[in-house]
Amino acid sequence: MSEVHSLDTHDDLDTHDDAAWWRQAAVYQIYPRSFADATGDGIGDVAGILSRVDYLAELGIDAVWLSPFYPSALADGGYDVDDYRDVDPRLGTLDDFDAMVDALHERGIKVIIDIVPNHTSNRHEWFQEALAAGRGSAARDRYIFREGTGPDGSQPPTDWVSVFGGPAWERVDDGQWYFHNFATEQPDLNWDNPEVREDFLTTLRFWSDRGVDGFRIDVAHMLTKDLSEPLPSSAELALLPQDGTHPLIDRDEVHEIYAEWRTVFDSYDPPRTAVAEAWVSTPERRAKYASAEGLGQAFNFDLLVADFDAAEFRRIIADNLAQATLSGSSTTWVLSNHDVTRHATRYGLPALDGRAVKQGVEWVRAGGPAADLDREQGRRRAEAATMLLLGLPGSTYLYQGEELGLHEVAEITPEQRQDPAFFRGAEFDGFGRDGCRVPLPWSADGSSFGFGADGAHLPQPAWFADYAVDVEAADPASTLSLYRKALRLRRSLQTDERLEWRETDRDDVLRFARPNGWQVVTNFGTEPFDLGSDADAVVLTTQPLRDGVLPGEATAWLRA
Ligand code: GLC
Repeated sequence: MSEVHSLDTHDDLDTHDDAAWWRQAAVYQIYPRSFADATGDGIGDVAGILSRVDYLAELGIDAVWLSPFYPSALADGGYDVDDYRDVDPRLGTLDDFDAMVDALHERGIKVIIDIVPNHTSNRHEWFQEALAAGRGSAARDRYIFREGTGPDGSQPPTDWVSVFGGPAWERVDDGQWYFHNFATEQPDLNWDNPEVREDFLTTLRFWSDRGVDGFRIDVAHMLTKDLSEPLPSSAELALLPQDGTHPLIDRDEVHEIYAEWRTVFDSYDPPRTAVAEAWVSTPERRAKYASAEGLGQAFNFDLLVADFDAAEFRRIIADNLAQATLSGSSTTWVLSNHDVTRHATRYGLPALDGRAVKQGVEWVRAGGPAADLDREQGRRRAEAATMLLLGLPGSTYLYQGEELGLHEVAEITPEQRQDPAFFRGAEFDGFGRDGCRVPLPWSADGSSFGFGADGAHLPQPAWFADYAVDVEAADPASTLSLYRKALRLRRSLQTDERLEWRETDRDDVLRFARPNGWQVVTNFGTEPFDLGSDADAVVLTTQPLRDGVLPGEATAWLRA
């Protein structure tokens, strides 16, 4: 990395006190159980986050998004929630949570938390009540219970398969079956039930009252269902269009729920924000989740499944900016999160069947052969892609550890794995998601690389030492140093939401300008790209310029 010009970094755009702060925010995702462990039990906690607030402030992000920290048996990494209005005792208390929010706010960092409305855990008091109350009860109506098929009802109501693999129905002691789109421990709620609706409004108010600034809505497109008889078979289900009428996915009436939520969000000053995790079929359908009458913003996951390829990036960027215009929202950029193989690793692997998309999972499945992973190529490309994203209009969601250029961990034995997608043999991600959830390395030495005093709940490989925060903080050419500089500069770059493409004479080089004079050039190819006299305007690059020439697999930021 090279920083050619020194430059003042005064904020032109106040990202913190403005009701529209989220439109251009850099949001850092914390997976709390793997971030920092202050209590020394091997599991990250709220006090751990509090102890690293200076690190977050120095990084230069605008907000954090916390994956679930609620009481949970961890059947799905905390996405099986026992109580939506509490903190898991292993992670801390509500007082600890308040102290963390205050400390983040003092540093100008907003707080987004995860809401999991599609399902509770099977330990949630509602589900326990439903089991005890029996068929036909009001308690069962909060969930989706059905009689089985076959002469004695011993067969499930349908042959549907859960997202994590295996059957989507589970039988309870009195013979009825309940529906679970994910793990058995995650019974789906019945969103036709008014009590369910009311209770989530209470939860949103509970956290908003505590000063939470926004919400990330888990599988926002799955809440409402049409389970009227006769139920289709899984083969029939797969053929049904996802146009608002599909029995399980992206039904039109789900937006009635979010319109209600919006009235809660807007009753606060500034209004609370929300971002939908919605895997839907078209940009138009995604735009509905991002509407100002609904959640306001929706994740754009296109780059999670894209190759490191100029044409593909350009198409995705253009489509998503157009889609943002459609909804009136701003778009979101994501290269990594807690559900996918880290992007440094995806970009360091040889393409599979000509495509880079699924190779991360296949590589982990094969035991992570070292010979296949080009760590330096992965890092080069990851830095180039991230700097491109940070220069685009819209908000960028960063996943903890990517600022270190951290790679996926493949060295996890079946006994050490935790992800239900691994145990249930999910088709979409058969080897599970543990490899991107390994606790962060804070120092090259010491117990669990500085994560905590007594080990880490997922094994950290020896090579984590090379990516430790203390090592990278001391190295001006590290990925961490690059992120810190870029995130600071970004505040003067993100003063408007427009972009203008500048054509280059190369298919593998993308270039765009922002009206405020900033430009971003990304060289996706391996041949160097000559910036000519513009080299003088370069402010930051992911690889050092050589005589005004941008090396392959690199991004440069220029300021006129
Ligand atoms: C979302 C989460 C994922 C979780 C699933 C079920 O996709 O990102 O981690 O397993 O929902 O809650």
